[in-house]
Amino acid sequence: MTEVLADSSKALFNEGLSHGASEAPELLEAPELFPETTEKLELLTTSLPQRPRRLRRTETLRRLVRETNLQISDLIYPLFVMEGENQKIEIASMPGCYRYTLDLLLGEIQQAYELGIGAIALFPLISETQKDNAGTESSNPQGLIPRTVQAIKQTIPEILVITDVALDPYSSEGHDGIVEDGKILNDETVAVLVKQALTQAAAGTDFVAPSDMMDGRIGAIRKALDAAGWINVGILAYSAKYASGYYGPFRDALDSAPKFGDKQTYQMDSGNSREALKEIELDIAEGADILMVKPALAYLDIIWRIKQCTNLPIAAYNVSGEYAMIKAAAAQGWIDEKQVILETLTSMKRAGADLILTYFAKEVALILQ
Ligand code: PBG
Repeated sequence: MTEVLADSSKALFNEGLSHGASEAPELLEAPELFPETTEKLELLTTSLPQRPRRLRRTETLRRLVRETNLQISDLIYPLFVMEGENQKIEIASMPGCYRYTLDLLLGEIQQAYELGIGAIALFPLISETQKDNAGTESSNPQGLIPRTVQAIKQTIPEILVITDVALDPYSSEGHDGIVEDGKILNDETVAVLVKQALTQAAAGTDFVAPSDMMDGRIGAIRKALDAAGWINVGILAYSAKYASGYYGPFRDALDSAPKFGDKQTYQMDSGNSREALKEIELDIAEGADILMVKPALAYLDIIWRIKQCTNLPIAAYNVSGEYAMIKAAAAQGWIDEKQVILETLTSMKRAGADLILTYFAKEVALILQ
């Protein structure tokens, strides 16, 4: 630490010296280049009470006055798990992201943990034969997610495990709720979500994360968890989740795209922001511990707005489509990937997010190390 400090103060000092040395010739050259403006130039360079550039002069100084700092501890790493052994399959629309069988997933989580990532969010790939309209498999205590949570808790007990509560990976219709006559049933779905959450709690999850957008599910899940004695299992509520085109790659990853229609009768309309306040108000009253805005990038104003209205932590989901866009442009050589990743995630923190779910978690950890 002392060495770092010593080095950077040296850099600051040298930078200062070289500035001092170069300033005089600059002024002398000016008259030759623009003889007619000499007087104005001299006036300007002497009469500025504020020079914002003074604080941008060196990296040490910029770091000192930086308002928002992205940290590894802000990040949650979403991961896809599938049945089988010794396999990882790359997701075509999410280069660098894989569906892992449980054995390989544990290795990936161990690696992430060693890089300083403290939390993961799990999503299952369920075979078509196990799907039905009511997503029954979602509350199977021997199902893929409960087995995965148990295995993680046995091997890497320190890492925080967040499990998704929603029917879509288990639904033969590809919807987040039970379908009847082309409509998504609310209260019947909430009953299934409660069972799913209880199953995950029994398996040892730290947080359940309802991403389904049914009305009243946070309250129903909180009550059921408490009644069963899981008072310390938290709820990360997908509170303001918009009906978005940015989820496309995620649905490829889980083969979970809706078989008919879209999700606009339960996910929010992208034109709305006051409605997000209504959603968070309800989720707070119903018992949410953390509120989420999703997607993040096209909804930074929502994060900002919610931040003004609550003291609860706010999570932003840097979703699959946001990941895919950066990966695709970087693969073409059109953008500097590392710079754009950091800039994008920093924008979410600057908007007010306290934590960020991002498929870039490991890459960011490596960059920030
Ligand atoms: C579904 C769910 C989705 C995501 C997380 N949970 C997709 C959807 O609502 O269709 C998307 C995450 C991403 O795109 O990265 N309950």
